[in-house]
Amino acid sequence: MDHEATTFPLDESDLPTHWVNLAPDLPEPPLPPLHPGTLQPAGPDDLAAIFPPGVIAQEVASDPLVEIPEEVREAYKLWRPTPLFRARRLERALDTPAHIYVKYEGVSPAGSHKPNSAVAQAYENARAGVRKLVTETGAGQWGSALAFACGLFGLECEVFMVGSSYDQKPYRRSMMETWGASVHRSPSSRTDSGRSQSSHPTGSLGIAISEAVEVAARADDANYALGSVLNHVCLHQTVIGQEAMTQLEMAGEAPDVVVGCVGGGSNFAGLAFPFVRLVLRGRARTRFLAAEPTACPTLTRGAYRYDFGDASGLTPLLPMYTLGHDFVPPPVHAGGLRYHGDAPLVCALVHSGLVEARAYGQNDAFAAALQFARTQGIIPAPEAAHAVRAAIDEALSAREAGEKRVILLGLSGHGHFDLSAYDAYLAGGLEDPEFSVEEMEAALARLPDAPAIAF
Ligand SMILES: Cc1ncc(COP(=O)(O)O)c(C=O)c1O
Repeated sequence: MDHEATTFPLDESDLPTHWVNLAPDLPEPPLPPLHPGTLQPAGPDDLAAIFPPGVIAQEVASDPLVEIPEEVREAYKLWRPTPLFRARRLERALDTPAHIYVKYEGVSPAGSHKPNSAVAQAYENARAGVRKLVTETGAGQWGSALAFACGLFGLECEVFMVGSSYDQKPYRRSMMETWGASVHRSPSSRTDSGRSQSSHPTGSLGIAISEAVEVAARADDANYALGSVLNHVCLHQTVIGQEAMTQLEMAGEAPDVVVGCVGGGSNFAGLAFPFVRLVLRGRARTRFLAAEPTACPTLTRGAYRYDFGDASGLTPLLPMYTLGHDFVPPPVHAGGLRYHGDAPLVCALVHSGLVEARAYGQNDAFAAALQFARTQGIIPAPEAAHAVRAAIDEALSAREAGEKRVILLGLSGHGHFDLSAYDAYLAGGLEDPEFSVEEMEAALARLPDAPAIAF
């Protein structure tokens, strides 16, 4: 293909047929989740109360490739394959020898990467005869994605939306309701978990997860669906990296560094894992960079411990970097990055040194997002803005070093429903809330007495 090309379009027939499961390639076998009651390793049976068999099989899969069901591939065709383009105007503005390639997930109906997993989860639940899915949403992206996916497969959808995002993004709620979902502000008075957290009115993803799990576990015909963190969600997202790999081959390039933002880790995993696998197999020497907010610095400042996935301790304990399950991060605009933990698979890679993590303040992230919008046109979601910051910094350091560096940037979504945050930034009124080490330490002291993770 022409080296001067800017876009690298794929055909429907290039849509991956399998998801990439990184677990069997990891140098150490992944640590098991622990049952929240017994603190013993949790097996597939422990997950059956809230997940369907197809999802559980994907969660514990041991094959390196997992076939994508035909119905899911058909649904993916509504927006996939997604674009990869070279950000030539941004490169020029930065006066950098770096090549910046952008894999853009904002073209999905919900506006982010989240439908890649929502569609797969809704399909497996419908196949298992489940009537309704209950979930949480931070920025509103996951809730929108699941509302859309439930509609495709005839399921009802109920969403607990983190209070601060519910207030900041009213049109995300409209979107979910348009697709037929019902939406509650969290913490709500509908659940024990919500009532017990009424002193935290801005809410948190941890609290909203507790509410959704509680509602799902109480009903026979409802299941829970999680939008990030777990192995099956990371697995579903690997269509991103596989497509990007084919598109970069069309460009005649391979990435020196892969950059993504991390909230729970799913878009980063989806973009990076197919490339990580090449590194683990000795076929590439790519670097991986995970960008997170300084207000919720899980990977850069959290403790590597077993912790609950939710605020009330209803979910299994996962081995991950954590700020403490009941730590409530300050209400930054990147609501999707306000999570106390991260995907165990991503954490294991950070712990082994294969993935580097960096934290950015929201003003720095928005400055980068504005530069991106004004050169490339696309207005990034506040979450994705953190990855844009990291990619721009890489391009600037390539300029300093005078080296051509190929940067692959995961742009996980657009910010069309986040314009109040852009308004605040443009008016100079965006705060960089302080992360409180004392609050994190207090939350870590409340962690259950689970086995330490061996170093
Ligand atoms: C656009 C966007 N990017 C990134 C994230 C972070 O989630 P994850 O780390 O699972 O990709 C979210 C979460 O809501 C999001 O909406």
